[in-house]
Amino acid sequence: MNKIVFITGASSGFGEACAYRFASEGYDVIATGRRAGRLEALQQRIQSTHGVRLLPLDFDVQDKAAVFAAVQGLSADWQEIDVLINNAGLALGRDYFDQANMDDWETMIDTNVKGLLYVSRAVLPLMTSRNKGHIINLGSTAGKEVYEKGNVYCATKFSVGALSQAMRIDLLRHGIKVTAIHPGAAETEFSLVRFKGDASTATSVYTGIEALSAKDVADVIYYTSTLPAHVCINDLVLTCTQQANSMYFYKK
Ligand SMILES: NC(=O)c1ccc[n+]([C@@H]2O[C@H](COP(=O)([O-])OP(=O)(O)OC[C@H]3O[C@@H](n4cnc5c(N)ncnc54)[C@H](OP(=O)(O)O)[C@@H]3O)[C@@H](O)[C@H]2O)c1
Repeated sequence: MNKIVFITGASSGFGEACAYRFASEGYDVIATGRRAGRLEALQQRIQSTHGVRLLPLDFDVQDKAAVFAAVQGLSADWQEIDVLINNAGLALGRDYFDQANMDDWETMIDTNVKGLLYVSRAVLPLMTSRNKGHIINLGSTAGKEVYEKGNVYCATKFSVGALSQAMRIDLLRHGIKVTAIHPGAAETEFSLVRFKGDASTATSVYTGIEALSAKDVADVIYYTSTLPAHVCINDLVLTCTQQANSMYFYKK
């Protein structure tokens, strides 16, 4: 039987690239997101290219009932999840703390923090019952240094770091690995979402740098899943070579 990876936010960016990478290594993939059409297209492409199974599941990670219904509805042949990638997330807006849109704040907290909690709690019984599994959480360099106008997005990614530490401690007794991955700037739909469809502002984020690609990040995520059972990467920061941390870039 193939190993199984459960990926949130597989309809785009890092999640989609992880779906391809893990499928190319023989994993069956549970691919989740809200855009069902994209997940179905991914299913067609991955199943025909890699000959593995892909199960598309569309739900909103902010909706606790929907998350639990989706995971608890998995048939027996999808329940032995080896790797959970908590990747779904977003930044919304880039504004001074005293001017930022509070609905944006709530969406980021509900998605990046509460969504990660719901998915983890829903999937964990399938790992703890086997004393086996690997949870990979997507943080960010924004969860390492706060930058101007990053306020709540940064706070949600600091939370991902804290929750990864907490999970690692509390799941020790089950032998479950927990890895936090903290990418720097990567060219995906992230900035288009952040700037609410303003393509020129979104593109300007990457002007003058060769940013990470989704594939670069997926390759590193996959690598962390390949280590022997007794070896766990706890925390990993990756940036493009023209970025030093969440504030310093060398733009050409
Ligand atoms: N790109 C970067 O520079 C960067 C750097 C560091 C960290 N990150 C983090 O990496 C993760 C992936 O980002 P990305 O760059 O791949 O962005 P992306 O291309 O915009 O992909 C985000 C994914 O998250 C899903 N998603 C968003 N809200 C959701 C919700 N409420 N319920 C279910 N799925 C939801 C989206 O799917 P649907 O829209 O179909 O729901 C999409 O598949 C995020 O956590 C982000 O914060 C990104």
